[in-house]
Amino acid sequence: MDPFQEFQLWYNLWLSTNPPEPAAMILSTAGSNGQVSSRIVLLRDFDEKGFVFFTNYNSTKGIQIHSNPNAALLFWWQPLSRQVRIEGTLEKTSREQSEKYFHSRARENQIGAWASQQSNKIPDREYLLERFDHYVDKFSDKEVDVPPHWGGYRLTPIWFEFWTAGRHRLNDRVSFRHSGGKWIREILAP
Ligand SMILES: Cc1cc2nc3c(=O)[nH]c(=O)nc-3n(C[C@H](O)[C@H](O)[C@H](O)COP(=O)(O)O)c2cc1C
Repeated sequence: MDPFQEFQLWYNLWLSTNPPEPAAMILSTAGSNGQVSSRIVLLRDFDEKGFVFFTNYNSTKGIQIHSNPNAALLFWWQPLSRQVRIEGTLEKTSREQSEKYFHSRARENQIGAWASQQSNKIPDREYLLERFDHYVDKFSDKEVDVPPHWGGYRLTPIWFEFWTAGRHRLNDRVSFRHSGGKWIREILAP
């Protein structure tokens, strides 16, 4: 079984626990100065090409990814006592894929993507709400365009680890590393 099939099996099991935020994952990136940042984003798509989330390209993460595309994803699925770690590189999704997802979102969220200059300093919440109202007026009776600064990233994995809690802390760790066009499965000590 390759790691994508393994991930799909585990993800299905996770969904069967009816978790409150099923798509949440921790994304870690580091900019040119090497400082690492982590935050939650939502997994919106995955297949053997990679793992996709959507964001603001001008955010802190967007700036970091621009200078350093290496990143890690982390999933902690507590009801299963399982963890999945993925490492790889990020690239922007096609404009077409970003547009398709953007238009599937609630209209208010689409307007929010225009209103929020994600990760920039703002004077107060009022400023944000005024910007929101501005874009409500701007797009009244019109389809909301996809902001040029908004879209997806796809993480192409080079490494996976599937972790299951075991008795006496003898946890189960199975890793897959991509080498020579193949996935190599290895067992790691806990
Ligand atoms: C449950 C949850 C889901 C989130 N999903 C996203 C998301 O899909 N995309 C996104 O840009 N930010 C998402 N956020 C907000 C990010 O965690 C973060 O605050 C934001 O992206 C700014 O990060 P940055 O300043 O490091 O770029 C989510 C936060 C939470 C708690």
